[in-house]
Amino acid sequence: MKKQPILDIDLSDPGGLPRESIDQAVALMKTGRLHRYGEYAGTVPHATLLEEEFAEYLGSRFAIGVNSGGSAIFLGLKIAGVRPGAPVLVNAFNLAPVPGAIEHAGAKAVLVEVDRDYRINLDDLRRKTRLSNAKVLLLTHMRGHIADMDKIAGICDELGLTLVEDCAHTMGAKWQDRFTGRYGAVGCFSTQTFKHINSGEGGIIATDDEDMAAKAILYSGSYMLYAQHRCAPSPRVFERWKKQIPNLSLRMSNLAACILRPQLREMASRGARWNQIYGWLEQRLNALEGVEVPAREAGESFVASSIQFHVQGLTGDQMTRLSDRCAQRGVAIKWFGRPEPQGYTSQYHHWQYLEPQALPRTTEILQTTCDMRIPLSLTEPQCNTIATILDQEISDLN
Ligand SMILES: Cc1ncc(COP(=O)(O)O)c(C=O)c1O
Repeated sequence: MKKQPILDIDLSDPGGLPRESIDQAVALMKTGRLHRYGEYAGTVPHATLLEEEFAEYLGSRFAIGVNSGGSAIFLGLKIAGVRPGAPVLVNAFNLAPVPGAIEHAGAKAVLVEVDRDYRINLDDLRRKTRLSNAKVLLLTHMRGHIADMDKIAGICDELGLTLVEDCAHTMGAKWQDRFTGRYGAVGCFSTQTFKHINSGEGGIIATDDEDMAAKAILYSGSYMLYAQHRCAPSPRVFERWKKQIPNLSLRMSNLAACILRPQLREMASRGARWNQIYGWLEQRLNALEGVEVPAREAGESFVASSIQFHVQGLTGDQMTRLSDRCAQRGVAIKWFGRPEPQGYTSQYHHWQYLEPQALPRTTEILQTTCDMRIPLSLTEPQCNTIATILDQEISDLN
Protein backbone atom coordinates (compact mmCIF):
# COMPACT_ATOMS: atom_id res chain seq x y z
CA MET A 1 0.00 0.00 0.00
CA LYS A 2 1.48 3.35 -1.09
CA LYS A 3 1.98 6.01 1.57
CA GLN A 4 -0.61 8.75 1.01
CA PRO A 5 1.01 12.00 2.17
CA ILE A 6 -1.11 15.07 2.73
CA LEU A 7 0.19 18.60 2.20
CA ASP A 8 0.51 20.34 5.55
CA ILE A 9 0.23 23.94 4.35
CA ASP A 10 -2.76 25.90 3.10
CA LEU A 11 -1.84 26.98 -0.44
CA SER A 12 -4.25 29.90 -0.14
CA ASP A 13 -2.34 31.35 2.83
CA PRO A 14 -1.46 34.93 1.82
CA GLY A 15 0.94 35.31 4.76
CA GLY A 16 0.73 38.01 7.39
CA LEU A 17 1.63 41.62 6.71
CA PRO A 18 4.99 43.14 7.69
CA ARG A 19 5.18 44.58 11.21
CA GLU A 20 5.57 48.06 9.78
CA SER A 21 2.33 47.79 7.79
CA ILE A 22 0.46 46.77 10.92
CA ASP A 23 2.00 49.51 13.08
CA GLN A 24 1.33 52.19 10.47
CA ALA A 25 -2.25 50.98 10.01
CA VAL A 26 -2.90 51.12 13.75
CA ALA A 27 -1.41 54.62 13.95
CA LEU A 28 -3.52 55.75 11.01
CA MET A 29 -6.70 54.25 12.44
CA LYS A 30 -6.10 56.18 15.63
CA THR A 31 -6.25 59.39 13.61
CA GLY A 32 -9.37 58.30 11.72
CA ARG A 33 -8.01 59.77 8.47
CA LEU A 34 -8.81 56.83 6.22
CA HIS A 35 -10.02 58.90 3.28
CA ARG A 36 -7.07 60.10 1.24
CA TYR A 37 -8.20 63.68 0.64
CA GLY A 38 -8.92 66.52 2.98
CA GLU A 39 -7.25 68.58 5.64
CA TYR A 40 -3.97 66.97 6.62
CA ALA A 41 -2.46 69.79 8.66
CA GLY A 42 0.84 69.70 6.85
CA THR A 43 1.27 65.90 6.73
CA VAL A 44 1.26 63.97 3.47
CA PRO A 45 -1.37 61.20 3.11
CA HIS A 46 -0.11 57.63 2.64
CA ALA A 47 -1.93 57.34 -0.71
CA THR A 48 0.05 60.29 -2.06
CA LEU A 49 3.30 58.81 -0.79
CA LEU A 50 2.53 55.35 -2.16
CA GLU A 51 1.92 56.82 -5.61
CA GLU A 52 5.27 58.61 -5.50
CA GLU A 53 7.08 55.50 -4.29
CA PHE A 54 5.37 53.24 -6.82
CA ALA A 55 6.20 55.58 -9.72
CA GLU A 56 9.81 55.70 -8.58
CA TYR A 57 9.93 51.90 -8.26
CA LEU A 58 8.45 51.37 -11.71
CA GLY A 59 10.13 54.31 -13.42
CA SER A 60 6.87 55.90 -14.59
CA ARG A 61 6.15 59.63 -14.50
CA PHE A 62 2.79 59.19 -12.79
CA ALA A 63 0.99 56.66 -10.61
CA ILE A 64 -2.61 56.79 -9.41
CA GLY A 65 -4.05 54.64 -6.63
CA VAL A 66 -7.55 53.22 -7.10
CA ASN A 67 -9.81 50.80 -5.26
CA SER A 68 -9.14 47.60 -7.26
CA GLY A 69 -7.24 46.12 -10.17
CA GLY A 70 -10.51 45.90 -12.08
CA SER A 71 -11.03 49.65 -11.57
CA ALA A 72 -7.44 50.29 -12.73
CA ILE A 73 -8.18 48.45 -15.99
CA PHE A 74 -11.57 50.11 -16.45
CA LEU A 75 -10.03 53.56 -16.00
CA GLY A 76 -6.98 52.50 -18.03
CA LEU A 77 -9.31 51.80 -20.96
CA LYS A 78 -11.18 55.06 -20.50
CA ILE A 79 -8.04 57.20 -20.42
CA ALA A 80 -6.74 55.30 -23.46
CA GLY A 81 -9.79 56.67 -25.28
CA VAL A 82 -12.05 53.60 -25.33
CA ARG A 83 -15.62 54.73 -26.03
CA PRO A 84 -18.83 52.74 -25.56
CA GLY A 85 -19.20 50.16 -28.32
CA ALA A 86 -15.49 50.20 -29.26
CA PRO A 87 -13.75 46.86 -29.86
CA VAL A 88 -10.95 46.04 -27.39
CA LEU A 89 -8.53 43.19 -28.15
CA VAL A 90 -7.76 40.98 -25.16
CA ASN A 91 -6.11 37.60 -24.68
CA ALA A 92 -8.71 34.85 -24.21
CA PHE A 93 -6.89 33.00 -21.39
CA ASN A 94 -7.88 35.39 -18.67
CA LEU A 95 -9.86 35.94 -15.50
CA ALA A 96 -13.35 37.31 -15.06
CA PRO A 97 -12.51 40.90 -13.92
CA VAL A 98 -10.78 41.59 -17.23
CA PRO A 99 -13.71 41.08 -19.63
CA GLY A 100 -15.68 42.64 -16.76
CA ALA A 101 -13.62 45.84 -16.97
CA ILE A 102 -14.15 45.99 -20.75
CA GLU A 103 -17.88 45.56 -20.22
CA HIS A 104 -17.77 48.26 -17.52
CA ALA A 105 -16.31 50.66 -20.09
CA GLY A 106 -19.23 49.76 -22.40
CA ALA A 107 -16.77 48.30 -24.91
CA LYS A 108 -16.71 44.97 -26.77
CA ALA A 109 -14.10 42.34 -25.97
CA VAL A 110 -12.47 40.80 -29.04
CA LEU A 111 -10.79 37.65 -27.77
CA VAL A 112 -7.39 36.62 -29.10
CA GLU A 113 -6.03 33.07 -29.04
CA VAL A 114 -3.15 32.09 -26.81
CA ASP A 115 -0.29 29.63 -27.29
CA ARG A 116 0.68 26.56 -25.29
CA ASP A 117 3.01 28.68 -23.19
CA TYR A 118 -0.04 30.80 -22.20
CA ARG A 119 1.09 33.90 -24.09
CA ILE A 120 -0.98 35.74 -26.69
CA ASN A 121 -0.81 34.33 -30.23
CA LEU A 122 0.70 37.05 -32.39
CA ASP A 123 -0.77 35.83 -35.70
CA ASP A 124 -4.27 35.84 -34.24
CA LEU A 125 -3.59 39.27 -32.75
CA ARG A 126 -2.82 40.63 -36.21
CA ARG A 127 -5.82 38.87 -37.73
CA LYS A 128 -8.31 40.05 -35.07
CA THR A 129 -6.96 43.62 -35.25
CA ARG A 130 -7.70 43.71 -38.97
CA LEU A 131 -11.09 42.02 -38.63
CA SER A 132 -12.30 44.16 -35.71
CA ASN A 133 -10.63 47.45 -36.59
CA ALA A 134 -9.79 47.73 -32.87
CA LYS A 135 -7.58 50.59 -31.71
CA VAL A 136 -6.76 49.25 -28.25
CA LEU A 137 -5.05 46.08 -27.06
CA LEU A 138 -5.62 45.16 -23.42
CA LEU A 139 -2.82 42.69 -22.81
CA THR A 140 -3.08 40.64 -19.63
CA HIS A 141 0.24 39.13 -18.60
CA MET A 142 -1.85 36.20 -17.53
CA ARG A 143 -0.48 34.29 -14.55
CA GLY A 144 2.80 36.14 -15.06
CA HIS A 145 3.50 34.85 -18.60
CA ILE A 146 4.97 37.76 -20.51
CA ALA A 147 4.72 37.98 -24.30
CA ASP A 148 7.70 39.11 -26.36
CA MET A 149 7.08 42.78 -25.58
CA ASP A 150 9.39 44.01 -28.33
CA LYS A 151 7.25 42.18 -30.86
CA ILE A 152 4.04 43.40 -29.21
CA ALA A 153 5.31 47.00 -29.31
CA GLY A 154 6.21 46.52 -33.01
CA ILE A 155 2.73 45.17 -33.83
CA CYS A 156 1.07 48.02 -31.91
CA ASP A 157 3.11 50.58 -33.85
CA GLU A 158 2.45 48.91 -37.17
CA LEU A 159 -1.31 48.46 -36.63
CA GLY A 160 -1.96 51.69 -34.73
CA LEU A 161 -2.93 50.01 -31.45
CA THR A 162 -2.75 51.71 -28.06
CA LEU A 163 -1.45 49.20 -25.54
CA VAL A 164 -2.98 48.92 -22.05
CA GLU A 165 -1.14 46.39 -19.89
CA ASP A 166 -2.89 44.36 -17.23
CA CYS A 167 -0.06 43.70 -14.78
CA ALA A 168 -2.22 42.15 -12.05
CA HIS A 169 0.12 39.11 -12.15
CA THR A 170 3.39 40.83 -13.01
CA MET A 171 4.23 43.46 -10.43
CA GLY A 172 8.04 43.50 -10.32
CA ALA A 173 8.35 41.42 -13.51
CA LYS A 174 10.29 42.48 -16.59
CA TRP A 175 10.62 41.73 -20.26
CA GLN A 176 14.33 42.14 -21.01
CA ASP A 177 15.33 44.90 -18.60
CA ARG A 178 12.07 46.83 -18.59
CA PHE A 179 9.20 46.42 -16.11
CA THR A 180 5.83 45.29 -17.40
CA GLY A 181 3.53 48.26 -17.21
CA ARG A 182 6.24 50.34 -18.94
CA TYR A 183 5.56 49.08 -22.48
CA GLY A 184 1.98 50.30 -22.73
CA ALA A 185 0.52 53.79 -22.65
CA VAL A 186 -1.01 52.60 -19.38
CA GLY A 187 -0.03 49.89 -16.89
CA CYS A 188 -2.67 48.54 -14.49
CA PHE A 189 -1.81 46.78 -11.23
CA SER A 190 -3.82 45.04 -8.53
CA THR A 191 -3.07 44.91 -4.82
CA GLN A 192 -5.82 42.45 -3.98
CA THR A 193 -4.85 39.84 -1.39
CA PHE A 194 -3.66 37.18 -3.86
CA LYS A 195 -1.33 39.50 -5.77
CA HIS A 196 2.29 40.49 -5.12
CA ILE A 197 1.46 43.10 -2.50
CA ASN A 198 -1.69 42.92 -0.43
CA SER A 199 -4.14 45.55 0.74
CA GLY A 200 -7.21 43.33 0.48
CA GLU A 201 -8.52 45.54 -2.32
CA GLY A 202 -6.62 48.09 -4.35
CA GLY A 203 -5.13 48.97 -7.70
CA ILE A 204 -2.57 51.31 -9.25
CA ILE A 205 -2.48 52.95 -12.69
CA ALA A 206 0.90 53.95 -14.13
CA THR A 207 1.43 56.20 -17.13
CA ASP A 208 3.86 58.76 -18.55
CA ASP A 209 1.15 60.74 -20.32
CA GLU A 210 0.06 63.88 -18.47
CA ASP A 211 -3.43 64.04 -19.94
CA MET A 212 -4.06 60.39 -19.15
CA ALA A 213 -2.76 60.88 -15.61
CA ALA A 214 -4.94 63.94 -15.00
CA LYS A 215 -8.00 62.13 -16.34
CA ALA A 216 -7.30 59.07 -14.18
CA ILE A 217 -6.99 61.24 -11.07
CA LEU A 218 -10.23 63.06 -11.87
CA TYR A 219 -12.14 59.87 -12.77
CA SER A 220 -10.86 58.12 -9.65
CA GLY A 221 -12.76 60.64 -7.55
CA SER A 222 -10.42 63.37 -6.34
CA TYR A 223 -13.14 66.00 -6.03
CA MET A 224 -11.25 69.23 -6.76
CA LEU A 225 -8.43 68.20 -4.43
CA TYR A 226 -6.18 66.86 -7.18
CA ALA A 227 -3.45 69.25 -6.02
CA GLN A 228 -2.93 66.83 -3.11
CA HIS A 229 -1.34 64.38 -5.55
CA ARG A 230 2.40 64.92 -5.76
CA CYS A 231 3.04 62.40 -8.51
CA ALA A 232 0.77 64.25 -10.90
CA PRO A 233 0.78 66.65 -13.86
CA SER A 234 0.77 70.42 -13.38
CA PRO A 235 -2.46 72.32 -12.52
CA ARG A 236 -2.51 73.59 -16.12
CA VAL A 237 -3.24 70.03 -17.33
CA PHE A 238 -6.08 69.59 -14.83
CA GLU A 239 -7.56 72.88 -16.05
CA ARG A 240 -8.08 71.20 -19.44
CA TRP A 241 -10.06 68.29 -17.95
CA LYS A 242 -11.56 69.18 -14.60
CA LYS A 243 -14.98 70.09 -15.99
CA GLN A 244 -15.04 67.31 -18.57
CA ILE A 245 -14.32 64.25 -16.46
CA PRO A 246 -16.90 62.78 -14.05
CA ASN A 247 -15.96 61.76 -10.51
CA LEU A 248 -16.46 57.98 -10.48
CA SER A 249 -15.37 57.52 -6.85
CA LEU A 250 -12.91 54.66 -7.33
CA ARG A 251 -10.27 56.06 -4.97
CA MET A 252 -7.66 54.07 -3.10
CA SER A 253 -8.20 54.33 0.64
CA ASN A 254 -5.47 55.77 2.79
CA LEU A 255 -5.52 52.59 4.87
CA ALA A 256 -4.80 50.41 1.83
CA ALA A 257 -1.94 52.70 0.81
CA CYS A 258 -0.46 52.69 4.29
CA ILE A 259 -0.19 48.89 4.46
CA LEU A 260 1.17 48.67 0.92
CA ARG A 261 4.15 51.00 1.37
CA PRO A 262 6.30 48.65 3.48
CA GLN A 263 5.38 45.72 1.23
CA LEU A 264 6.55 47.58 -1.85
CA ARG A 265 9.95 47.98 -0.24
CA GLU A 266 10.10 44.19 0.16
CA MET A 267 9.22 43.42 -3.46
CA ALA A 268 12.72 42.38 -4.51
CA SER A 269 13.21 39.88 -1.67
CA ARG A 270 9.67 38.50 -2.02
CA GLY A 271 10.19 38.07 -5.77
CA ALA A 272 13.45 36.19 -5.27
CA ARG A 273 11.78 33.82 -2.79
CA TRP A 274 8.81 33.20 -5.12
CA ASN A 275 11.12 32.34 -7.97
CA GLN A 276 13.17 29.99 -5.82
CA ILE A 277 10.00 28.05 -4.94
CA TYR A 278 8.91 28.12 -8.59
CA GLY A 279 12.25 26.57 -9.57
CA TRP A 280 11.75 23.69 -7.10
CA LEU A 281 8.22 23.05 -8.34
CA GLU A 282 9.09 23.38 -12.00
CA GLN A 283 11.85 20.81 -11.73
CA ARG A 284 9.73 18.31 -9.79
CA LEU A 285 6.59 18.69 -11.89
CA ASN A 286 8.48 18.42 -15.17
CA ALA A 287 9.93 15.11 -13.96
CA LEU A 288 6.42 13.60 -13.71
CA GLU A 289 4.98 11.42 -16.46
CA GLY A 290 2.32 13.35 -18.40
CA VAL A 291 3.09 16.73 -16.80
CA GLU A 292 4.73 19.68 -18.56
CA VAL A 293 5.59 23.11 -17.23
CA PRO A 294 6.03 25.20 -20.40
CA ALA A 295 9.53 26.66 -20.75
CA ARG A 296 9.91 30.40 -20.16
CA GLU A 297 11.67 32.69 -22.64
CA ALA A 298 15.09 34.04 -21.78
CA GLY A 299 13.75 37.62 -21.92
CA GLU A 300 11.12 36.96 -19.25
CA SER A 301 11.98 37.92 -15.66
CA PHE A 302 8.80 36.80 -13.97
CA VAL A 303 7.73 36.96 -10.32
CA ALA A 304 6.08 33.58 -9.87
CA SER A 305 3.28 33.81 -7.35
CA SER A 306 1.67 30.80 -9.08
CA ILE A 307 2.63 27.96 -11.42
CA GLN A 308 0.83 26.64 -14.53
CA PHE A 309 1.32 23.27 -16.12
CA HIS A 310 -0.25 20.89 -18.62
CA VAL A 311 -1.50 17.48 -17.57
CA GLN A 312 -1.81 15.40 -20.70
CA GLY A 313 -3.72 12.30 -21.74
CA LEU A 314 -6.68 12.60 -19.34
CA THR A 315 -10.35 12.99 -20.17
CA GLY A 316 -12.40 15.90 -18.81
CA ASP A 317 -13.91 13.65 -16.12
CA GLN A 318 -10.45 12.48 -15.11
CA MET A 319 -9.19 16.07 -14.89
CA THR A 320 -12.12 16.96 -12.62
CA ARG A 321 -11.37 13.94 -10.42
CA LEU A 322 -7.67 14.77 -10.38
CA SER A 323 -8.28 18.33 -9.21
CA ASP A 324 -10.87 17.19 -6.62
CA ARG A 325 -8.66 14.42 -5.26
CA CYS A 326 -5.56 16.59 -5.07
CA ALA A 327 -7.65 19.19 -3.19
CA GLN A 328 -8.67 16.52 -0.66
CA ARG A 329 -4.97 15.97 0.00
CA GLY A 330 -4.29 19.70 0.46
CA VAL A 331 -3.07 20.46 -3.07
CA ALA A 332 -5.54 22.99 -4.44
CA ILE A 333 -5.09 22.76 -8.20
CA LYS A 334 -7.35 24.78 -10.42
CA TRP A 335 -8.19 23.20 -13.76
CA PHE A 336 -8.99 25.79 -16.40
CA GLY A 337 -10.96 23.32 -18.53
CA ARG A 338 -13.78 22.86 -16.01
CA PRO A 339 -17.13 22.98 -17.79
CA GLU A 340 -18.54 25.23 -15.05
CA PRO A 341 -16.81 28.29 -13.55
CA GLN A 342 -15.51 27.60 -10.06
CA GLY A 343 -14.08 30.05 -7.54
CA TYR A 344 -11.58 32.33 -9.24
CA THR A 345 -11.38 30.11 -12.30
CA SER A 346 -13.51 30.58 -15.37
CA GLN A 347 -12.91 30.65 -19.08
CA TYR A 348 -14.11 32.71 -21.99
CA HIS A 349 -17.15 30.66 -22.91
CA HIS A 350 -18.51 31.22 -19.40
CA TRP A 351 -18.68 34.97 -20.04
CA GLN A 352 -21.92 34.80 -21.94
CA TYR A 353 -22.50 38.55 -21.85
CA LEU A 354 -19.80 38.73 -24.57
CA GLU A 355 -20.57 38.19 -28.22
CA PRO A 356 -20.03 34.46 -28.88
CA GLN A 357 -16.52 33.81 -30.19
CA ALA A 358 -14.84 30.56 -31.10
CA LEU A 359 -11.24 30.07 -29.98
CA PRO A 360 -10.46 26.44 -30.69
CA ARG A 361 -6.76 26.75 -29.92
CA THR A 362 -7.32 28.37 -26.52
CA THR A 363 -10.05 25.82 -25.68
CA GLU A 364 -7.65 22.98 -26.44
CA ILE A 365 -4.88 24.55 -24.35
CA LEU A 366 -7.14 25.21 -21.36
CA GLN A 367 -8.34 21.60 -21.48
CA THR A 368 -4.94 20.49 -20.11
CA THR A 369 -4.08 23.61 -18.06
CA CYS A 370 -3.72 23.44 -14.29
CA ASP A 371 -2.83 26.27 -11.98
CA MET A 372 -1.55 26.38 -8.43
CA ARG A 373 -0.85 29.27 -6.07
CA ILE A 374 2.59 29.56 -4.53
CA PRO A 375 2.51 30.81 -0.95
CA LEU A 376 5.75 32.50 0.04
CA SER A 377 6.12 30.15 2.99
CA LEU A 378 6.20 26.96 0.85
CA THR A 379 9.30 24.86 1.61
CA GLU A 380 11.32 22.51 -0.60
CA PRO A 381 10.08 19.37 1.20
CA GLN A 382 6.50 20.60 0.70
CA CYS A 383 7.24 20.96 -3.04
CA ASN A 384 8.32 17.29 -2.99
CA THR A 385 5.04 16.36 -1.30
CA ILE A 386 3.04 18.27 -3.93
CA ALA A 387 4.83 16.40 -6.71
CA THR A 388 4.29 13.04 -4.97
CA ILE A 389 0.57 13.70 -4.50
CA LEU A 390 0.12 14.79 -8.11
CA ASP A 391 2.07 11.80 -9.39
CA GLN A 392 0.10 9.31 -7.30
CA GLU A 393 -3.25 10.80 -8.24
CA ILE A 394 -2.41 10.86 -11.96
CA SER A 395 -1.25 7.25 -11.93
CA ASP A 396 -4.35 6.17 -10.00
CA LEU A 397 -6.50 7.62 -12.77
CA ASN A 398 -4.66 5.83 -15.58
C1 LIG B 1 -5.50 38.91 -14.62
C2 LIG B 1 -6.24 39.78 -13.65
N1 LIG B 1 -6.48 41.05 -14.00
C3 LIG B 1 -7.15 41.88 -13.17
C4 LIG B 1 -7.60 41.47 -11.95
C5 LIG B 1 -8.40 42.41 -11.13
O1 LIG B 1 -7.91 42.64 -9.90
P1 LIG B 1 -8.88 43.00 -8.66
O2 LIG B 1 -9.33 41.71 -8.05
O3 LIG B 1 -7.98 43.81 -7.81
O4 LIG B 1 -10.01 43.79 -9.22
C6 LIG B 1 -7.35 40.16 -11.53
C7 LIG B 1 -7.80 39.69 -10.20
O5 LIG B 1 -7.80 38.54 -9.88
C8 LIG B 1 -6.66 39.29 -12.41
O6 LIG B 1 -6.39 38.03 -12.05
